[in-house]
Amino acid sequence: MGAATLLTLLASVVVISDAAAIKQLHFTDLEKIGTQEAIFPFLGGAGPHFSFPLDYGIPKEVPEKCEMTQVQVFARHGERYPTKSSGTSMLQTYYKLANYTGTFNDSLSFMNDDYEFFVQDTSNFEEETTMKNSLDPLNPYTGEMDAKKHSREFLAQYEDLISDTPNFAIFTSNSKRCHDTAKFFIDGLGKDYNISLQVVDENATSGANSLTPRYSCAKFDEDENSDLLATYSQDYLTDISDRLNNENRGLNLTAKDASNLFAWCAYELNVRGYSYVCDVFTEEELIFYSYEDDLESYYENGNGNSLGTAVGSVLFNASAELLKQSDQLDQKAWLSFTHDSDLVNYIAAVGLFDDGNKLNLSHVPFRDHVYRKSWIVPQGARIYTQQFSCSNQTYVRYVVNDVVIPIESCQSGPGFSCPSKSFYEYVESRIGENNFISSCGSNDASNITSLTFYWDYQQNNYNATLFKK
Ligand SMILES: *[C@@H]1O[C@H](CO)[C@@H](O)[C@H](O)[C@H]1NC(C)=O
Ligand SMILES: *[C@@H]1O[C@H](CO)[C@@H](O)[C@H](O)[C@H]1NC(C)=O
Ligand SMILES: *[C@@H]1O[C@H](CO)[C@@H](O)[C@H](O)[C@H]1NC(C)=O
Ligand SMILES: *[C@@H]1O[C@H](CO)[C@@H](O)[C@H](O)[C@H]1NC(C)=O
Ligand SMILES: *[C@@H]1O[C@H](CO)[C@@H](O)[C@H](O)[C@H]1NC(C)=O
Ligand SMILES: *[C@@H]1O[C@H](CO)[C@@H](O)[C@H](O)[C@H]1NC(C)=O
Ligand SMILES: *[C@@H]1O[C@H](CO)[C@@H](O)[C@H](O)[C@H]1NC(C)=O
Ligand SMILES: *[C@@H]1O[C@H](CO)[C@@H](O)[C@H](O)[C@H]1NC(C)=O
Ligand SMILES: *[C@@H]1O[C@H](CO)[C@@H](O)[C@H](O)[C@H]1NC(C)=O
Ligand SMILES: *[C@@H]1O[C@H](CO)[C@@H](O)[C@H](O)[C@H]1NC(C)=O
Repeated sequence: MGAATLLTLLASVVVISDAAAIKQLHFTDLEKIGTQEAIFPFLGGAGPHFSFPLDYGIPKEVPEKCEMTQVQVFARHGERYPTKSSGTSMLQTYYKLANYTGTFNDSLSFMNDDYEFFVQDTSNFEEETTMKNSLDPLNPYTGEMDAKKHSREFLAQYEDLISDTPNFAIFTSNSKRCHDTAKFFIDGLGKDYNISLQVVDENATSGANSLTPRYSCAKFDEDENSDLLATYSQDYLTDISDRLNNENRGLNLTAKDASNLFAWCAYELNVRGYSYVCDVFTEEELIFYSYEDDLESYYENGNGNSLGTAVGSVLFNASAELLKQSDQLDQKAWLSFTHDSDLVNYIAAVGLFDDGNKLNLSHVPFRDHVYRKSWIVPQGARIYTQQFSCSNQTYVRYVVNDVVIPIESCQSGPGFSCPSKSFYEYVESRIGENNFISSCGSNDASNITSLTFYWDYQQNNYNATLFKK
């Protein structure tokens, strides 16, 4: 049933019942679902999933006369509620508005109409959004649906790689939302597959045997560039708070409130399927916000952090090892679920979006803006490594959120892939001396310096206790 048919149907239900039902059905709200997708790329990767917006036109299917021999997926958990800290901060902004005694004007006027805050139960903080905890039964953006849809898409392209080995392992960190995403993905695969879900502890005690090695890299400091980041202009935020305060006499929103409104918009989309808060911002403000998020990600976990690539080398090195051993390994599909920061570390090591220039803090470098965090790791992000063989040669390439992203310096193979021999040299050159072993220093919690769970899970059965984070 198309959206238009559904609306017509609901409209007729409304007409034949009493007028009060119109409000209950939130008729205008329903119409809003699906109309806000153009801004998803500007929400710092906090809103619903979207495909990489810049498609170079390279099909992600295996090139002609080639055969897929291995696929790896490093995925982020799906759409979620805000974290406890960001949700609590957002609530302060909501209370300011809810306690305002005047009638709201302009973009905040939705607050006049019995608006209910999208977090009805704070025990949902940190959780994946699901059919059950979503505020609107028609919300198309739950993490649950995203993961199930992803696994159907995965099957459509890679079924041949798993049909001979229907018993295989999938890996997740022990963050509950990562685990739940993996479970939903597995549910989506259906009854033909018997998956052993390996739950790897995020704790520093895991050392490098982890999907979150940033916690085990003793010298890694996410905040090493905080002074630099503080130089990015906050004028766009005060523009927003000034505008809203001027429109609504007596309202005292701050720049922090303005920043919270972006998060409110993004997470409300995940929970409810639409958000009137998203209509508060101008296009310029969305660009400034999105670029601020790129800067934070780049300088905290990406190529702008002195140890971003060292931390990321753990997954990159393991990935290369799996590719090298492809012929010997029965399992041909390796799927792992973790957080955006860990994927940003990994991508920093791979160097897919590293043009060698540091992101500029004094203006948005439109022409040279290669690193876009939300495009790479939105909720439900999926970074694929494909290995295929053509005329007895093997090749490797990356598919980031459905779009083939060639390695800039190695793309001579079919479909702009990298010949394996050159690929391993490339890995060597990227990891070099800036790796976990040589750069992270000793860790009080663990001496483990390499990732082994892909190889020893049958003996070890990873089953770390889940936690909400
Ligand atoms: C007003 O703000 C306080 C916290 O400052 C909050 O507890 C209260 O629920 C708010 N009132 C409404 C109507 O939301
Ligand atoms: C499913 O996999 C588990 C090991 O992960 C194994 O014990 C069990 O026998 C398998 N079930 C089927 C139906 O293959
Ligand atoms: C990590 O493990 C140690 C030792 O088991 C424990 O004391 C600590 O609380 C754990 N940390 C977290 C964040 O779970
Ligand atoms: C709403 O805007 C109108 C026109 O700009 C203004 O007269 C009125 O005072 C505003 N209301 C509030 C509550 O600020
Ligand atoms: C906003 O601040 C002004 C001056 O600081 C104060 O008079 C006013 O009561 C505040 N309004 C609200 C809604 O908090
Ligand atoms: C790369 O992986 C191999 C095999 O797992 C391991 O022996 C080696 O220590 C790893 N190297 C780095 C730099 O992580
Ligand atoms: C950033 O751009 C400004 C111009 O807006 C330029 O003066 C400055 O040198 C650039 N900084 C870096 C680190 O590239
Ligand atoms: C590929 O290599 C195998 C053995 O290494 C050989 O038997 C086969 O003929 C080769 N195929 C092609 C297309 O070169
Ligand atoms: C790491 O190795 C050192 C030296 O062998 C040892 O003293 C220390 O207890 C080990 N630490 C852990 C957490 O295993
Ligand atoms: C994990 O499995 C081991 C052995 O299979 C068991 O002793 C341990 O209690 C399990 N831990 C959790 C958290 O389930």
